[in-house]
Amino acid sequence: MTENTEYTTRPVLVTGATGMTGRRVLARLRERGVPARAASRSSEWAFDWSDPATWDQVLEGAGAVYLVQNDVDPRTPAFVARAVAHGVGRIVQLSARGVDVPGYYGDREDAIAHLVGEEAVKASGLEWTVLRPGWFAHNFSEGLLADQVRAGVLRLPAGDGAASWIDARDIADVAVAALTEPGHHGRTYVLSGARLLTLAEVAARISAAAGRAVRYEPVSVEEYVADRRGQGWTEEESREMAMVISPIERGNEAELTTGVQEALGREPRDFSDYVAEAFEREAEHA
Ligand SMILES: NC(=O)c1ccc[n+]([C@@H]2O[C@H](COP(=O)([O-])OP(=O)(O)OC[C@H]3O[C@@H](n4cnc5c(N)ncnc54)[C@H](OP(=O)(O)O)[C@@H]3O)[C@@H](O)[C@H]2O)c1
Repeated sequence: MTENTEYTTRPVLVTGATGMTGRRVLARLRERGVPARAASRSSEWAFDWSDPATWDQVLEGAGAVYLVQNDVDPRTPAFVARAVAHGVGRIVQLSARGVDVPGYYGDREDAIAHLVGEEAVKASGLEWTVLRPGWFAHNFSEGLLADQVRAGVLRLPAGDGAASWIDARDIADVAVAALTEPGHHGRTYVLSGARLLTLAEVAARISAAAGRAVRYEPVSVEEYVADRRGQGWTEEESREMAMVISPIERGNEAELTTGVQEALGREPRDFSDYVAEAFEREAEHA
């Protein structure tokens, strides 16, 4: 079968364009001279998952989509149907590790939304690639855990569990390869970092790189929920996040996978590379 690559000359729609992976995907595409649209609620191309009236304008004329779900309700099937109607040729979906394993995230609903999204992407008839990363390293500097790192204490219900802390730059490299190169259609890449580290080990490495004390304090789910409630989160949001953390505590994230090697033919970046990038500059400017 001859591959129809007409769509490759059209812009790539990057959803989640201000996020940890989306902004890196966008930068890499632009460095390569690939036209790309930055889409999210606060981006140049206004796009809101919860407002389907914003979907058509970002999809119109796009050739490929980097799809960052942010929906508890599974909206991806409807979005994928619109992408097909607009003549999109390829979708690279950011999903998450373990979504195909019952109970991996407790009964958290957006794991189900990810899986429903994957099914829609795979059944779309488009070229597709699914990325299933574990916990991101960049959570400590840009994401969910950055505030706690700044405050010097990581208080999480993760026990002494380890994770592989994939570098967002590796996810972006895989996404860009899948968006722009042949050979990734029909692949589901389970992405991990290069080594397993507990949160105590992570805190020690960040402390050493940043030149200031950061420690890990394991807490119960109830203590974590109380912390979050104290910061203005709702009970539901707090319990949802505890569920997202729970695979670390259960040891589910303590496994290295080969997705980066399969997609890129190289090893994932090491966590030491991440802390150097994210925290040594902080120490230099202290
Ligand atoms: N963080 C991790 O460790 C991890 C691990 C595995 C999988 N994932 C998956 O990665 C995805 C992204 O999560 P993340 O925590 O890493 O966040 P992120 O990509 O760093 O940030 C979220 C992005 O989504 C956009 N966004 C948020 N709400 C939106 C809405 N209603 N409509 C349109 N865009 C919206 C945000 O931009 P605006 O605010 O401008 O809209 C931002 O660009 C999720 O599906 C998550 O399950 C994350």
